[in-house]
Amino acid sequence: MEQVLHQINDYKKEIAAFTSIDDKSVEEFRIKWLGTKGIVKAIMGEMKNVPIEKKKEFGQILNDFKLFVENKYESLKDTISNQQPAPDSYRDSDKSDLTLPGDTMPLGSHHPVTLMKNRIVSIFQRLGFAVAEGPEIEDDWHNFGALNLPLHHPARDLQDTFYVQQNPDFLLRTHTSNVQIREMEKGKLPIRMIMPGRVYRNETVSARSHCFFHQVEGLYIDENVSFADLKQTLYFFVKEMYGKDVKVRFRPSYFPFTEPSAEMDISCFICGGEGCAICKKTGWVEILGCGMVHPNVLQNCGINPGKYTGFAFGMGIERPAMLKYGINDIRMFSENDVRFLKQFTSVI
Ligand code: PHE
Repeated sequence: MEQVLHQINDYKKEIAAFTSIDDKSVEEFRIKWLGTKGIVKAIMGEMKNVPIEKKKEFGQILNDFKLFVENKYESLKDTISNQQPAPDSYRDSDKSDLTLPGDTMPLGSHHPVTLMKNRIVSIFQRLGFAVAEGPEIEDDWHNFGALNLPLHHPARDLQDTFYVQQNPDFLLRTHTSNVQIREMEKGKLPIRMIMPGRVYRNETVSARSHCFFHQVEGLYIDENVSFADLKQTLYFFVKEMYGKDVKVRFRPSYFPFTEPSAEMDISCFICGGEGCAICKKTGWVEILGCGMVHPNVLQNCGINPGKYTGFAFGMGIERPAMLKYGINDIRMFSENDVRFLKQFTSVI
């Protein structure tokens, strides 16, 4: 028994001196001392060799020893778990509160030109017009020739048109009318198309005009299409776009590719026709150009003008967008200033 007591003292010293560095060594400690084949169990087995009168005293010593080992084991576990790095979000240095609502995603917005284009296009789509697009780099024929623009026409002037320097047969389209030609050339009739797109003109950039802007053009070709159809279509558009109280007037005009041609004004929707800075005190705002497709244009595209007639119209997008959103400088549209653009976040 003396020997066992000695042994226990030695064990206590060994245990007291033991330190652990990780989970693994703590587990090894447990197995060595407290496991089913561990030392504590083995020592407990000594009880049977102890004489009866000493059993109580010896039992006490063994229990103390067992408690000593268990306490050591618990404290080893505690130190290890305190050393373990906490999951990222719980670290002291990072005071994230996981119950906070998430950051809102910054919302993008449609560009005001896109907003206006979508409004215009959707009105004509309801009348059965399909959307068509064409190239911005165009040849002379599709931009001018086929549209009945004779060679000497001032619109071909270098002042107005950007030609491709390496190959002056190509140019940046000056209007979306090139898409008219491309659609008519396909030879599938009737045609009822709306054609939005970007166009280019060699103009001095200022608050009122830019060297590129956007247009929407419409084309309707079928048998028996008349100027009355053109007017009704545009009346519907104006009512949907600017409201039912807006008045409309047509003024005779000239475009090489339409005959007769007209320009359409609406009563100024800012002053209601009273006269203001926007309408230059006239009470009217010019909205679009239009007319019956010139027979030469039909012929140029292989369509029989004796059988088919049609109307076309074209309008800018920037001007009405400026009026609608109160934008007083056309350059804002192309400067990509987020302070400007994000004002349209909630507009659809
Ligand atoms: N293409 C003309 C322009 O750019 C607009 C227009 C289109 C006029 C169709 C009549 C018919 O000004």
